[in-house]
Amino acid sequence: MKPSSDAAVAVTLESLRSRVLTCTACPLSASRTHGVFGEGDPGARVMFIGEGPGEVEDSTGRPFVGPAGQKLDEVLTSVGIARESVYIGNIVKCRPPGNRVPSRGEMEACTPYLEAQIALIQPSLVVSLGNTATQWLKPDAPGITQSRGTFYSWRGDILLFPMFHPSYLLRYPSRDKGSPKYLTWLDIQKVKAWLGERENRTSAGLS
Ligand code: URA
Ligand code: SF4
Repeated sequence: MKPSSDAAVAVTLESLRSRVLTCTACPLSASRTHGVFGEGDPGARVMFIGEGPGEVEDSTGRPFVGPAGQKLDEVLTSVGIARESVYIGNIVKCRPPGNRVPSRGEMEACTPYLEAQIALIQPSLVVSLGNTATQWLKPDAPGITQSRGTFYSWRGDILLFPMFHPSYLLRYPSRDKGSPKYLTWLDIQKVKAWLGERENRTSAGLS
């Protein structure tokens, strides 16, 4: 072991964050106010991944804090998951102008940051929010209407679980059976149950 040289090149979440905040690797850097790195428990078992920052995220530098973020908070709270206990990030770290969908090139340019975040946090479950994030992370997944609510084996031991994007729920306020909100409520209960099972296994001394 060479601790001193290893320490010199060690990538930490904080060093990655500062690289994101000054990154100019894609054209989104030109129009951003703040890069939005991501936040939450660095040891989280679950990571929620959205598409990219919106207006409030761009002005505050925090993920999912605008209207979609409030909706996400509601979804988490409905099953007693504390926002601080998970990690929340996005595919692209800078806001696409007018909230357009990020281009392939922008997502490609930004993905090394997400990959590094995943490598450092080592989640067991990645929840992809919406079709863009889901298709980017798992190109062979069916569309979000079909893939949502399904645990896919993804990479090694990591599972991928697509859910509707919270902004989709804002557009469809109905809570009737079969509505996006209703289905999302079913989905987040599955995440909660998965977390509970992990807890039981850990306290039983299983990995
Ligand atoms: N929508 C996203 O996909 N991510 C955010 O951080 C906010 C809105
Ligand atoms: Fe860099 Fe990602 Fe921002 Fe593009 S979106 S400038 S790759 S941090």
